[in-house]
Amino acid sequence: MTANVSELAGKTALVTGASSGLGVDFARQLAEAGCNLVITARREDRLIALKQELATSHPGITVDVIVMDLAGRNAAQQLHEEITGWGRDVDVLINNAGYGLFGWFLERSWDDLEAMVRVNTLVPQELTHLFASGMARRGFGRILFVSSMAAYQATPTYAAYAAAKSKILLFGEAMNFELRGTGVSATVLSPGMTRTEFLEVSGQKATLAQRILMMESPDVVRTGLSALMHGKASVVPGWINTALVVSTKFVPRPMVKWIAYAMMRNDEVD
Ligand SMILES: NC(=O)c1ccc[n+]([C@@H]2O[C@H](COP(=O)([O-])OP(=O)(O)OC[C@H]3O[C@@H](n4cnc5c(N)ncnc54)[C@H](OP(=O)(O)O)[C@@H]3O)[C@@H](O)[C@H]2O)c1
Repeated sequence: MTANVSELAGKTALVTGASSGLGVDFARQLAEAGCNLVITARREDRLIALKQELATSHPGITVDVIVMDLAGRNAAQQLHEEITGWGRDVDVLINNAGYGLFGWFLERSWDDLEAMVRVNTLVPQELTHLFASGMARRGFGRILFVSSMAAYQATPTYAAYAAAKSKILLFGEAMNFELRGTGVSATVLSPGMTRTEFLEVSGQKATLAQRILMMESPDVVRTGLSALMHGKASVVPGWINTALVVSTKFVPRPMVKWIAYAMMRNDEVD
């Protein structure tokens, strides 16, 4: 198994959610490694700006932009058709696009919840289904799923988001097993609080615990890409986050959700 991201030079990576936060840093670090990129999200201006930045800093790579709302019913298929239509193979799939919805489950509309669950769980699974068979046929592929520390326990105020991220955590770890021997590996990255646009989008004001635990996006991405290159099934960036995830195994299950709630709770949901 290759161990250095520079070994992806000349390969093509598809990065979803590349218009802000972790996705931008995935694109930057993969470009630095010499990887050609296909970047996608809804905000075209951000994608074009990133393409221009990378074209200047890394003139030897190609960067293609696809503007797409992944909440659309056939979005994954459209993405696959567009890229294969160019005659391009995807060697590295970074399933990063996603977002949370903060607050009580019943106070959110079903349409909003369904779209969030689709983007966080169904789309990464469908993209894996569409792209991994080609990777296996060619004998090489790397697939990363961005889950969350929220995946490790029931999390009131992020009930549907945490459940969606649990699903992708379990799916990604199972893919790591199923793909053994194919030359394709799958890795799940489960970040804790990271400085991106996540809270702005979810509608939550950062709690004290979140401010204390906040990590920087380039560090989280570096951890994820290193785990990806080592073929690890799963990684939680940051030793405090890792310790918190491990500690949930030793706390009686009925208490875990109370601790998660205490860490997420702020004035907006009392
Ligand atoms: N930051 C954290 O604390 C944290 C913690 C744990 C897990 N995560 C996970 O990390 C991943 C990246 O999030 P982030 O923290 O970098 O947040 P972010 O800055 O808000 O970025 C989210 C990205 O996902 C894209 N996206 C959202 N909805 C989309 C849709 N319907 N169609 C296409 N693209 C969509 C956004 O692009 P457009 O809006 O332009 O479409 C954006 O590029 C997510 O899966 C998130 O759940 C984040």
